[in-house]
Amino acid sequence: MGGLSTESDARDSESIAALRHGLKLGLRFIDTAEMYGGGHSEEVVAKSVASDRENVFLATKVSAEHLSRDGVLKACASSLRRLQTHYIDLYQVHWPNPRIPITETMKAMEQLVEEGKIRHIGVSNFSVLQTREAQEALSKNYLASNQVEYNLIDRSIESELLPYCEKEKITIIAYSPLARGEISKRDRWRILDNVASKYGKTRTQIALNWLICKNPVVAIPKAASLEHVTENAGAVGWRLNPEDERAIDLSFK
Ligand SMILES: NC(=O)c1ccc[n+]([C@@H]2O[C@H](COP(=O)([O-])OP(=O)(O)OC[C@H]3O[C@@H](n4cnc5c(N)ncnc54)[C@H](OP(=O)(O)O)[C@@H]3O)[C@@H](O)[C@H]2O)c1
Repeated sequence: MGGLSTESDARDSESIAALRHGLKLGLRFIDTAEMYGGGHSEEVVAKSVASDRENVFLATKVSAEHLSRDGVLKACASSLRRLQTHYIDLYQVHWPNPRIPITETMKAMEQLVEEGKIRHIGVSNFSVLQTREAQEALSKNYLASNQVEYNLIDRSIESELLPYCEKEKITIIAYSPLARGEISKRDRWRILDNVASKYGKTRTQIALNWLICKNPVVAIPKAASLEHVTENAGAVGWRLNPEDERAIDLSFK
């Protein structure tokens, strides 16, 4: 929303309507980043949240090229300004940057917590080793989360990162949880369609519920259409039974 790597306001009203619709349906976690739409995504989020700020869990990310101490502090100030808020609920390192010591980045993150500008510290696209380094670089805070790609088609985190984060109580935030829309596009997908009809749900709702059945996973589908937002909101408030979860597990291995 707000453009890809550069700003675009062409779909702002559609994006704002979708985000507000999600809030009305009880979806409370909004994820953005300073790099989305060259910062404009955060402005779109600000317009959508406005008076409802206290009821929203707002997550944004600092880009890999801003991971020096000054870079983090400046990027956070700019995100706060664009988001029109005094605090960010979750501030995430968007991608690792091997040229900047993670200890420097995490010190700056901890300073932001002390100043009340951010509440929790997270990372994104970090391997197990990088996650451990980030944890060790924190002295007063726990690492809250690692945001990584996870969906029925890409399950690569299951071998190492998922068990590691479960053990360490680090939330996995599954990005591209619908495989960028692929999940709903295939003609026929027997196991998903069978389970969907058993629960009176759609394929997308099953795919999202399957993800959030896993400990410690939350999912952040992106949806700009009101229909999609409504459908995705119907993925929570119920749970696949363990046999169906396992059947899906096995057939997508
Ligand atoms: N940390 C990172 O490096 C990173 C990388 C990629 C993404 N992310 C985060 O993850 C979020 C989601 O990822 P994503 O956008 O890549 O992929 P996604 O959520 O898996 O897929 C989004 C696509 O699915 C469509 N869609 C949404 N709900 C649908 C439904 N119920 N039925 C059919 N289609 C549906 C959307 O269409 P409409 O928009 O038309 O509704 C959109 O085209 C992003 O917004 C971002 O916050 C983070």
